[in-house]
Amino acid sequence: MALQVVILAAGAGTRMKSKLPKVLQPLAGKPLLGHVLSAAQKLHPEDILVVYGHGGDAVRSAYQHHSLLWVEQAEQLGTGHAAQLAMASVDDDDATILILYGDVPLLTAETLSTLIQRSNKKTLSLLTVSLEDPTGYGRVVRIDDKVQAIVEQKDATSEQLAIKEINTGILAVPAGPLKRWLQHLNCDNAQQEYYLTDIIELAVGDGFTVETCSPRNSNEVMGVNDKIQLANLERQWQWTQAEHLMQQGVTLVDPHRLDIRGTLEVGQDVFIDANVVIEGPVVLGDGCHIGPFCHIKDAVLGCDVRINSHTVIDSATVGDNCIIGPFARLRPDTKLDTKVHVGNFVELKKSEVAHGSKINHLAYIGDAEIGRHVNVGAGTITCNYDGLAKHKTVIKEGAFIGSDTQLVAPVIVGAGAVIGAGSTITKDTPENELTLSRSEQKTIKGWMKKHRPE
Ligand code: UD1
Ligand code: MG
Repeated sequence: MALQVVILAAGAGTRMKSKLPKVLQPLAGKPLLGHVLSAAQKLHPEDILVVYGHGGDAVRSAYQHHSLLWVEQAEQLGTGHAAQLAMASVDDDDATILILYGDVPLLTAETLSTLIQRSNKKTLSLLTVSLEDPTGYGRVVRIDDKVQAIVEQKDATSEQLAIKEINTGILAVPAGPLKRWLQHLNCDNAQQEYYLTDIIELAVGDGFTVETCSPRNSNEVMGVNDKIQLANLERQWQWTQAEHLMQQGVTLVDPHRLDIRGTLEVGQDVFIDANVVIEGPVVLGDGCHIGPFCHIKDAVLGCDVRINSHTVIDSATVGDNCIIGPFARLRPDTKLDTKVHVGNFVELKKSEVAHGSKINHLAYIGDAEIGRHVNVGAGTITCNYDGLAKHKTVIKEGAFIGSDTQLVAPVIVGAGAVIGAGSTITKDTPENELTLSRSEQKTIKGWMKKHRPE
């Protein structure tokens, strides 16, 4: 049977106290809705329908490049009403409908496919969990073990309130019967809303079986209503990432102080110190050592790379055996070959550095090409921008740049050249020669006696 996914995401999210719609609030750097969509896409549905309301324009534009069907629910009259609107866009009565919530981000595709497999032409399947404290949730009412109905907290009798098995809201159901039951909903209840959950009783009345299944981890079905729940789920997500890394042999000094907002691919014997943030796709080769307080984003690091503390790497490639930091910054389009050393307070942007070169202290290297075994002295700056355009600096193999040099681009430093400290280099320099631009030092005899009385 074809699958259609319906994501209910029209709720106001008032308790988030934010201008950003709830489903766009980030968890591990990705909107809540993005997590739900990722799980849904893994199931290869025919369509994904998103019921939106509050902050609709922002939500739609955040996902404009995804092929989603958008269903507007201008007034939130309840989950049943939202489902009615969505079902008006579903033609295939034989399809299986999977209902998801836009604010329940941790559900896995495995849990959802088990749920879907349980549903068929005469069976509705519900995802339920048993909670020590079920307050607030709809309770699953059973007679002789068979599900009969779902009763909302506000409509429940004291006997029903004692039930610990709760409705997660996630369910799989055949489209045709669902449409029929939705037509029979009314808002004759404590919240005066159209409850999607009322279809359970209608299904049972129609001779349908209601099956239930539960996720492996009950955190999967937790929803986000406020920033406290958001933070709890963030920690839960991060713990799962950390566990996964440790299972692959990564040493995490403190698995509670690592944040992964993207994907991290690792080799063998990787070591990650405390308070590291990983963003986007990052690859760490065998034997990589990441010091404390580093932020690494969209980067590929080779084998045995050592990143010392407080280093920021963004969209860069680092070859084997490089040593970076502490306090270094690699900006986009930086490419370091093998055994390159980049030390403290060094910023590199859109530059390539070949094997064995060293830029160890306080430098800015932008739009540059640095050959093998070059030594860039402390305080060296490539003046790459003339106020209008960026220009390139080329430093050829084996050159030695004295401290506090300004290389005014476009400029080429020849192979094996030496630049005297404190120079401002505006013209290409010949290879294997010393070039310097510096006013000569002089001593003025007797000055002290004249100007400083005894
Ligand atoms: C719902 C269930 C309850 C379940 C709980 C699990 C009903 C009647 N109750 O209750 O049994 O235990 O979820 O969290 O379904 N939404 C819309 N349009 C609306 C109303 C809601 O799109 O008009 C969306 C919300 O954005 C949210 C989801 O549906 O993503 C659930 O809505 P919510 O108001 O949180 O339902 P609950 O009262 O928590
Ligand atoms: Mg809710």
